[in-house]
Amino acid sequence: MSELYSKAETLELRRRHIGPSCKVFFAKDPIKIVRAQGQYMYDENGEKYLDCINNVAHVGHSHPDVIKAAVKQMELLNTNSRFLHDNLVQYAKRLTATLPEKLSICYFVNSGSEANDLALRLARQYRGHQDVITLDHAYHGHVSSLIDISPYKFNQLGKEGKKEFVHVAPSPDIYRGKYREDHPDPASAYADDVKKIIEEAEKNGRKIAAFIAESMQSCGGQIIPPAGYFQKVAEYVHKAGGIFIADEVQVGFGRVGKHFWGFQLQGKDFVPDIVTMGKPIGNGHPMSCVVTTREIAEAFGASGLEYFNTFGGNPVSCAIGLAVLDVIEKEDLQGNAIRVGNYLTELLNKQKEKHPLIGDVRGIGLFVGVDLVKDQQKRTPATAEAQHIIYKLKEQRILLSADGPHRNILKFKPPMCFTMEDAKLVVDQIDELLTGMHALQNVPPCSFPNDIIKAPLHSLLLIRIEYSLATTEDLAQWSSSSSSCSY
Ligand SMILES: Cc1ncc(COP(=O)(O)O)c(C=O)c1O
Repeated sequence: MSELYSKAETLELRRRHIGPSCKVFFAKDPIKIVRAQGQYMYDENGEKYLDCINNVAHVGHSHPDVIKAAVKQMELLNTNSRFLHDNLVQYAKRLTATLPEKLSICYFVNSGSEANDLALRLARQYRGHQDVITLDHAYHGHVSSLIDISPYKFNQLGKEGKKEFVHVAPSPDIYRGKYREDHPDPASAYADDVKKIIEEAEKNGRKIAAFIAESMQSCGGQIIPPAGYFQKVAEYVHKAGGIFIADEVQVGFGRVGKHFWGFQLQGKDFVPDIVTMGKPIGNGHPMSCVVTTREIAEAFGASGLEYFNTFGGNPVSCAIGLAVLDVIEKEDLQGNAIRVGNYLTELLNKQKEKHPLIGDVRGIGLFVGVDLVKDQQKRTPATAEAQHIIYKLKEQRILLSADGPHRNILKFKPPMCFTMEDAKLVVDQIDELLTGMHALQNVPPCSFPNDIIKAPLHSLLLIRIEYSLATTEDLAQWSSSSSSCSY
């Protein structure tokens, strides 16, 4: 296919017209993607890349059923949801059928950020409380209200970043966090920290509107909270008059395999008060949803303010949403997530036995993280090594990202059609790269991002790595405030 602009021209036009804080992947040598199919993306030269990170193209890039549903509806009608339309109610019925019964009321919106912003409005309207408890390293979206509750972002603004109505609870990370795998009951210990935060806030006259957490933290480092944690937190938050918001923007729609929703990993006895959805919901079409209880929805309505959203829940979006649900079912993508996810985790665990750089492999279904460490005991994040791996994989036409607060966690969240062969291919490549990196293990430990940008260590790393992959710009970018969740 001939392109309108050469890659160099596209890059130049982007520099000229697109805001400089909108970063591209692989800044040193960005990729121009012109088409995609299933779990593969193709650049302008027809080079094929295996996509291990795109949880938006949930049922596979350019899925024909999704495209057909969109085109068919677009040819007929697209308009706002103030007219009665069957797609809207049919989709609401289908979507809520995947959730526990009390989660029965939908608000359709257009992005994960819009969904979380609306969730905060619902929570604040419910009892008139204002404060929000969020987890350390969390990211919940790019609008002002969400930067306020996203330590992943506001921590980069210095002390001024955290607002007084925001309370940050430790991330329930049993590998790197406060209470680890050797703790007898990390779920209760982490929940007790939330309880203390509530008590302290109340002592200061503050009132909790909501606790918000991803059902599994993604940008925060592929963290799977210990089972039972959410139940205890919900109990404390409810006692304080607040509600529990489960952000499923990254992890929902069957990615965990065993369940349709990530929060269900906590056990049948846990039901959030609000669930927010995005990314995978429309397989690339911008749509999202907030689902809540009738009680919370009625409290929101009681303010007298109408809620109107021009694009949210339009017939085309709903047709697409329905097609995505159909494909998940028809192609048994949850089953695939279990089978391929287990296989991927098994392969990675074998690598862990072989390579001291792998500190931890954690995951469920097709949501897997590989925590790279310089030192198994101290668990010092191996940031430069993780960056090296993702750049080298890119040269092998494999797209993977490194995320988490130290950017040292290799993050898998591929389209759900990812296969055993794909898993084997990536892990074999990682094996090869790790084998070639043993020399790196003698690099003196550093803590990223602060240390890495100090000149002597920076130079040392560049010399020791000898991989010529890291430019000063890259290093600055890895440690810069602009880094964000991939997809
Ligand atoms: C957990 C989580 N919530 C919300 C959002 C915001 O979604 P969007 O970028 O669609 O606004 C993101 C985006 O990365 C996310 O990862």
